Amino acid sequence: MLVAANKTWRQQETYSKPGWVTKPRLMTRATPQPIHRAMPRPAILFVCLGNICRSPMAEAAFRHEAARCGLELSVDSAGTGDWHVGKPPDPRAQAETLRHGLDISSYRARQINSRDFHEFTHILALDQSNLEDLHAIAPADAAAHLSLLLDHVERMEGQSVADPYFGDASGFEETWRQVTLAAQALAQKFRTL
Ligand code: 4NP
Repeated sequence: MLVAANKTWRQQETYSKPGWVTKPRLMTRATPQPIHRAMPRPAILFVCLGNICRSPMAEAAFRHEAARCGLELSVDSAGTGDWHVGKPPDPRAQAETLRHGLDISSYRARQINSRDFHEFTHILALDQSNLEDLHAIAPADAAAHLSLLLDHVERMEGQSVADPYFGDASGFEETWRQVTLAAQALAQKFRTL
C-alpha cells in the first residue's frame, strides 16, 4: 500500500499556561478541565542537519505509526542547516521510504527557527551533534522538550542515527531501521500520555 505521508497540517493551538485563558488585559481562571484536555496537543519535530535524509524519514515513519495507533498529534521535521531549504528529500531517502510504502516526495526541507521551540512540545534530535546545536540555539523561554531520538528506544539510549548522506544505499536502510524503532517507541509513549 502506498501512503502519502502528508505534511499539510499546521498547529493551531496557542500554548498559554494550561488551565488559563487569555482575554484582552485580563487573565481569568478557566473552568477546571480533565488533565488530558488541558494539556496542549503533542506536536513533534524531528531535527537533523540537512532535513533531506534522516529527519524526513523519521517524520514519515512516525506519521505512519501515529496514524496506525490513532494518535492525534502534529508532526514535522527540520534541519539545523540551511543548505537544502526548499529541496525535496534526497532521492535515496525517498527510495528507501517508498520501499516501505510511504511517499515523501512532497516534503520540502526547512531550517529550524525560534518559533519552533514554542510551537512544538517535543523536539527530537537525530544525532548528538544536532542535540547540542538545538540546546545552543534554543530561546531561554523555550517550551519544547529537547531529547535525542534513540534515547526513546530501549537499549539504544545515547546512540545517534548515523548520517547516511556521504555513504551508499545501505546507510539509508539502516536509517530506516532505526527511525522505525524510534517511531514505534515514541507512539507507545504518546499513547500512554
Ligand atoms: P541529514 O543528512 O542531516 O540526515 O539530512 C545530510 C544532508 C546533507 C548534508 C549533510 C547531512 N550536507 O552536508 O549537505
